[in-house]
Amino acid sequence: MNAVPSRPGVVTVGALVAGAANRLAGAGVESARLDARLIVGMALGLDTAALLSRRDDAVDALAAQRVAELLGRRERREPMSHIVGEREFWSLAFRVTAATLTPRPDSETLVEAALAWAAARDYPGGAGLRVLDFGTGTGCLLLALLSEWPSAIGTGIDISPAALAVARDNAHALGMAGRARFVAGDWGCDLNERVQVIVANPPYIAEGDLERLDPEVGRYEPRLALAGGADGLAAYRALAPHVFSRLVDDGAAFLEIGQGQSAAVADILADAGLQVVTCMPDLGGTPRCVVAIRQRPEKY
Ligand SMILES: C[S@@+](CC[C@H](N)C(=O)[O-])C[C@H]1O[C@@H](n2cnc3c(N)ncnc32)[C@H](O)[C@@H]1O
Repeated sequence: MNAVPSRPGVVTVGALVAGAANRLAGAGVESARLDARLIVGMALGLDTAALLSRRDDAVDALAAQRVAELLGRRERREPMSHIVGEREFWSLAFRVTAATLTPRPDSETLVEAALAWAAARDYPGGAGLRVLDFGTGTGCLLLALLSEWPSAIGTGIDISPAALAVARDNAHALGMAGRARFVAGDWGCDLNERVQVIVANPPYIAEGDLERLDPEVGRYEPRLALAGGADGLAAYRALAPHVFSRLVDDGAAFLEIGQGQSAAVADILADAGLQVVTCMPDLGGTPRCVVAIRQRPEKY
C-alpha cells in the first residue's frame, strides 16, 4: 500500500472502511462502523491503529477483493465471530464455528458466581474441585473456570460431536487439555463421576421466539444450542435430575437462564431435590444465573 493524494480510481484504506460501514449499515448491521474496521483490518492485515495511520494508503485490487468477500458475508448477517473465527470470553480467545454457540458476555455471570462460591469455601487454586459443564459448546464455561482454578479438573458434555471437536481444540490452544475431557452424549450420559461444581447454559429459546431472533443468531447459530421447546424450559426439565444426581452433597450448580425464566427454573430444580439459593443478575441487571445446591441429608 502507498500513500496517495485523493485521485479518481484509487481506493484508499479510509475510503474502503467508510464504504464498508455504509454497506453494512444498509444491511441493518448495528455495529456497522466497528465491523467495517474489523473486516478491512482483517483483509489487509492491519490493526485499528494502523488502519487510522494508513488511511490515505492505496489498496491494491487483490486486497479490495478480499474485503468485498468478507463484507458480503457480513451483509448476509453472518456473525463476526464466524468471519473472524473466534470470540473472546473471560479474556480468553475461543475458536468458534457454525457448530458452536458464540460465547456471550452474559454467560460470564456463571463463571463469576462459581468463583465466588468456591472462594467462600476451602478450595485453594481449585484443589479438589471437579467441574461438569452440561452443553459445553466451545468449552468456554469449563475452560474459563479451569483457567482460574489451576488445580481443578473438569468434563464438558455435548450432544454435538462437531461442537466437542471445537471445545477440544480450545482446551489444547489454551493449555488445559490435560485437565479437561470432553464427552459426547445427552444430559443423562453415563459419566461415572460426581462433582462439586456444575455449570450449564442449556438451550432456552421458546419455539415461538426462534423466528424473531436477529439473523446473526437465527440463521447462523446451531438450532441445537438455541431451541428450548414450546416454553423454552424443556432442557431444564430434562437436565434437572442429572444435575441432582451428578452433584456431591454440598455441591453447587450454576445454570444460565433466559429473560423471565428464573421462577420457573427455580421450581424445576426444587422439584428435582435441589435447594435454590439465589439468582445472580448479569451486567445489564437481568437475572441470569440460578444457583442451586445439593444439600447434605440430615442425620437422624
Ligand atoms: C446454549 S449452548 C451453550 C454453549 C456453551 N456452554 C456456552 O455457554 O456458550 C447449549 C449447548 O447444549 C448442547 N445441547 C443441546 N441439547 C443437548 C442434549 N440433549 N445433551 C447434551 N448437550 C446438548 C448444544 O449442542 C449446545 O452446544
